[in-house]
Amino acid sequence: MRRLAGVLVIHGPNLNLLGRREPAVYGRTTLADVDAALHALGDELGVPVTCVQHNGEGEIVTAIQGAEGRYQGIVINPAGYTHTSVAIRDALAALGELGVPAIEVHLSQPAAREPFRHVSFVAPVCRGSVSGFGADGYLLALRGLVAGLGREGA
Ligand code: DQA
Repeated sequence: MRRLAGVLVIHGPNLNLLGRREPAVYGRTTLADVDAALHALGDELGVPVTCVQHNGEGEIVTAIQGAEGRYQGIVINPAGYTHTSVAIRDALAALGELGVPAIEVHLSQPAAREPFRHVSFVAPVCRGSVSGFGADGYLLALRGLVAGLGREGA
């Protein structure tokens, strides 16, 4: 199997606290555990995976822009910015048009939570969304993204 150039995984604000942050909602899995599982799946799929976490909106926009020419796709959990950020949405839209698709991930199921979480600014510019499967959602998103890239012969 031909090795793909790689996938960038972006974790948004407060996800550095995963495992200790509201465990009844987000579980006990730490971000290090999530990243280790993503790297292991990347090895299995033949796709190098790079994981970053940023609390700042601008840092996330810069990371998305930086994916052009370096990664074939993005898996992103924009966390709280999902429901507020035009800038992150616009960056994902731009990269999508430049040939770098994104998959949105949420550990919880935002549609089943407070009304302000029901709107995702990024969903319309992402190729797909995975919500409600806890940390496994990242692995489902990576599998879905890589399958799509493979179909496109990327
Ligand atoms: C989240 C859901 C968001 O509503 C919330 O602000 C987060 C995490 C999730 O993974 O379930 O920080 O993106």
